[in-house]
Amino acid sequence: MTRRPLIAGNWKMFKTGPEAVDTATHIAKACADVRDVDIMIAPAYVCLPLVAEALAGTPVHLGAQNLHFENQGAFTGEISADMLKAAGAEYVIIGHSERRQYFDETDETVNKKIRSAADKGLKPILCVGETDAQREAGNTFLTLDKQVSDGVNSVDPKDLQDLVVAYEPVWAIGTGHTAGPDQVDEVHRFLRDLLGKRISPDLARNVRILYGGSVNPGNIRELMCIQDVDGALVGGASLDAKIFTQIVKFD
Ligand code: PGA
Repeated sequence: MTRRPLIAGNWKMFKTGPEAVDTATHIAKACADVRDVDIMIAPAYVCLPLVAEALAGTPVHLGAQNLHFENQGAFTGEISADMLKAAGAEYVIIGHSERRQYFDETDETVNKKIRSAADKGLKPILCVGETDAQREAGNTFLTLDKQVSDGVNSVDPKDLQDLVVAYEPVWAIGTGHTAGPDQVDEVHRFLRDLLGKRISPDLARNVRILYGGSVNPGNIRELMCIQDVDGALVGGASLDAKIFTQIVKFD
């Protein structure tokens, strides 16, 4: 596999500034010898500059959990791509299912955010995934097709060279129920094929497709053995430096 794995931690709304710095420092120290895996952590907005400072000169990259699609303006409470970059973020998670579920994120706003991130040189992590009801109704692939196709709609392929896609079945997030290897294999193949059609075959070969949903040190190895799995987006298990490091060092 020529794609370099990415293990990314999504800290959601956990950790104050000092707590985030403490965990980030421990992760950076424990992962100082990691050469063959990209590592990223995404703390809350307010922690970004502090964590950026703690991670300077280490192999751990910094990401944000969301952004606003406009670059500036009267949008009280929102944060733009330029602001994230200035705070030290390199990646940005877009369209996480919790944002879709609780904050009215739509495929249309996801598309605008992907454009903004790509335009400003942030590496977008586009999250897609079906709910339990969608899977039960046999609509898994229809749902994923719409999320991906709308998400990258009309974005210039040359702006998507750093795109990362995260497949996170909603029913697997925070539940302890990881999708089975056959399910993950089937979906990741489908997503790569779809990216080939919607963007370009070249980009599809290189884009990293992460799995997310109850990833832990006990299941990461099996997941990473699946051909089209290029890493993981980790929630709960990324909050503890020791556990996250075990996931990063899955070999
Ligand atoms: P989880 O969350 O690892 O706690 O299931 C994954 C995510 O929401 O990105």
